Amino acid sequence: MPHDLPAALGGRPVRTRPFPTWPSPSVEARAAVNAVFDSGHWWQNGDGAGERLEAALVDRFEVRAAVAVTNGTLALEVALRAAGVGPGDEVVVPATTFVSSASAVSSVGATPVPADVRPDTFSLDLGSARESVTARTKALVVVHLGGQPADLTGARLLCDEKGLLLIEDSAQAVAAAWDGRPVGSAGDMTAMSFQAAKLWPGGEGGAVLIRSDGALAGRVERIANCGRPRGSSDYDHLEPGTNARISEFHAALVLSHMAGTDALWLRRKGTYERLDRALPAGALAAVDPRVTRHDHYMVLLRLPQAALTDGLDNATTVRALAAEGIPARVLFPAWHLLPAFRPPTGAPRSLPVAEGATRSALWLHHRLLLDPDCAEDLPAAWSRVTAHASRLAAGPEVRPTTTPKPGLMPDSRTSDDRSGPPFRAGSVSSS
Ligand SMILES: Cc1ncc(COP(=O)(O)O)c(C=O)c1O
Repeated sequence: MPHDLPAALGGRPVRTRPFPTWPSPSVEARAAVNAVFDSGHWWQNGDGAGERLEAALVDRFEVRAAVAVTNGTLALEVALRAAGVGPGDEVVVPATTFVSSASAVSSVGATPVPADVRPDTFSLDLGSARESVTARTKALVVVHLGGQPADLTGARLLCDEKGLLLIEDSAQAVAAAWDGRPVGSAGDMTAMSFQAAKLWPGGEGGAVLIRSDGALAGRVERIANCGRPRGSSDYDHLEPGTNARISEFHAALVLSHMAGTDALWLRRKGTYERLDRALPAGALAAVDPRVTRHDHYMVLLRLPQAALTDGLDNATTVRALAAEGIPARVLFPAWHLLPAFRPPTGAPRSLPVAEGATRSALWLHHRLLLDPDCAEDLPAAWSRVTAHASRLAAGPEVRPTTTPKPGLMPDSRTSDDRSGPPFRAGSVSSS
């Protein structure tokens, strides 16, 4: 069996050992959940884990206020509602992101308007964002995709010039920084997610950070608490709200991860830097030189042009990497082309970079970086797969001959598998 033949074409898989699982159930996490259980204080009203989480977020991000909520999608919705964004308004959102960045805008009755992303980093292209602004635009959402902070300086300038609210979607970053500015420091509000795949996993959970506006913070608190002021469980509903309060169990879990942030980041960074040296130039999405700290939430990869020309796409590559023992996902499809967002008449706006990435880009979850051997295994698998692009692209007649036996799967189900069984070939990730 030739050594360099992809496993999908009958070669021996690069890797048979599983990668570390995520989230990793620590002693601290268990103790935190048990403490809530034993306390009998199971919902957020008063001095509990929810408030402690909010205080920790205020402290860490140096913001005026933090409101812990049930998930990142609701964090975005509550932030938009609190800012008065609604029917008739438009919000500019990068086309390459998890769907919630756009669907939250629709949920408050406004229209998400897609902007293209940069070809090097897949972060928002501010030129395209500027072109998307109209007289109806109320806000701009920037996404710290894969843990790489978006251009916060440029986004802030654009919003100030056009009188727009800036919302940072920081579901995928907790400690990243742009040109010395930590995430959360430029947006009027920042939405965070603590879903199980995230860097501070609570199973579910989220938060809205409010940078400086106390009145806005009060509105976020009320909307998330059925329209009542914080601390009130009476029937003094001042405005129509929703129940987006985080549960005490989730808040305690999220808190239990914060202390380990830097230690895990150093491990991810170490593996990422070796990967960067070992992979061919251009395989990894670029890191903007103005990034002070990248959280390495995702390892973003793009197929070389030669492989694309040979017919290889990201879905086939994900299948081929799975056969090598490397779990990967295709990058988020450009949301403006999804059935939920297609205009009822006419063609959707053409955004060539985001649309191209839908076929050419893929990602690995940060848990893979916790194994230093990833820096050897991924490049080995990548070079085999891209070297055999045309045969892999040839399709159904090319089948793996080394199907792992049940129970010997090279990887196990983990929380980045949100849309089906683990890393099923060709499946599209949900976040
Ligand atoms: C960029 C982005 N925004 C928003 C969300 C929504 O967060 P949640 O799953 O907590 O609702 C996610 C993740 O799921 C995400 O990756």
